[in-house]
Amino acid sequence: MATQRLIWRDEYLIGVDELDWEHQDLFQRLNELHDALAKSDDLEAIEDCLGEIHARVESHFALEEQYMRANKFAGYEAHKDEHDEFLEVLVELAKGILDSPEPERRDNLEFQLQAWVINHVITSDRDLATTV
Ligand SMILES: [Fe+2]
Ligand SMILES: [Fe+2]
Repeated sequence: MATQRLIWRDEYLIGVDELDWEHQDLFQRLNELHDALAKSDDLEAIEDCLGEIHARVESHFALEEQYMRANKFAGYEAHKDEHDEFLEVLVELAKGILDSPEPERRDNLEFQLQAWVINHVITSDRDLATTV
């Protein structure tokens, strides 16, 4: 199965404007990564995209965690664990793709990142917005 660009849908909105905005921004960054991965020869562009994604994800998680603490969200620890784990996975995947960027690994990287982000937004992030 070929990889695809992500398409934002309003059903992904969680109802907290600044978090929703960052989720949409993250979709855009993932689409930039998609484009960079599609060009087989430019490892530097892939590295730049992954660096940008890591930086934005890290600051997005910090904002979300601040939001949860401010609202005394009961699921804080579990949600934060998901964030921490994803950042570790992201670093590992980035290292892996830059070491050996063959097509199957590119597709796998993209599938994993896209699936995690969408799944996290429509489950855990929606949860934090609806239960505070
Ligand atoms: Fe989250
Ligand atoms: Fe989020």
